[in-house]
Amino acid sequence: MPAESHLPMHTARLRLDALREEDAQDLFAYRSDPRIARYQGWRPDAVEDAAAFIARQSTRRFAEPDGWNQLAIRLRESGELVGDLGIHFPPSQQDAVELGISLMPAHQGSGYAREAMRAVIGHLFGEFGYRRIVGSVDPRNHASVALLHALGFRKEAHHVESLYFRGEWVDDLVFALLAREWSDQAVANDTR
Ligand SMILES: CC(C)(COP(=O)(O)OP(=O)(O)OC[C@H]1O[C@@H](n2cnc3c(N)ncnc32)[C@H](O)[C@@H]1OP(=O)(O)O)[C@@H](O)C(=O)NCCC(=O)NCCS
Repeated sequence: MPAESHLPMHTARLRLDALREEDAQDLFAYRSDPRIARYQGWRPDAVEDAAAFIARQSTRRFAEPDGWNQLAIRLRESGELVGDLGIHFPPSQQDAVELGISLMPAHQGSGYAREAMRAVIGHLFGEFGYRRIVGSVDPRNHASVALLHALGFRKEAHHVESLYFRGEWVDDLVFALLAREWSDQAVANDTR
């Protein structure tokens, strides 16, 4: 099965697919918002940066080894863009996949991040057969830490002042989830 056939992914309320040229203005607006950009490596300075980012993404195949795919998160009914979800597919099947997610402030607190992440994690452990997924966050990024905990990720490391980021040394928390832990959660939830 070609990798592209995994897209779009649907959940009860969302559709995950490729970012499009016409998303540039919205992508710029929320990715440059300090509430979203504060802990993120990529922060567009102008709408052209967002357009260039989308253009670069459109040249990438989905699920290429050692490649980042940034998916659009849209409301399933209206198609409205509400955020984006980054997947780093590792160089080999033995390595960990890394995930990162951003939601427009107006769409936070509705459970969309959990819903989108659950769908992607299910595919990564299911059809793709990966064993381990990680997330790396600044400990001050409480919403992201809460999201990873809610999805069953374990805190594996707290690196102290390990990254020089925008003029200061910052800490980095590493969270991880294994395929067997994900299956155990599913069993536990079914029998609750
Ligand atoms: C990280 C981020 C995506 C989390 O977004 P979020 O809206 O808090 O996460 P969710 O969509 O899962 O929403 C969970 C909240 O919605 C609430 N909620 C409302 N309706 C819900 C539903 N139907 N299902 C589940 N949760 C629901 C939950 O109660 C929960 O709130 P709580 O934690 O206070 O109990 C968001 O804070 C963000 O974009 N941050 C900036 C970008 C960033 O730093 N990303 C991380 C880089 S790796």
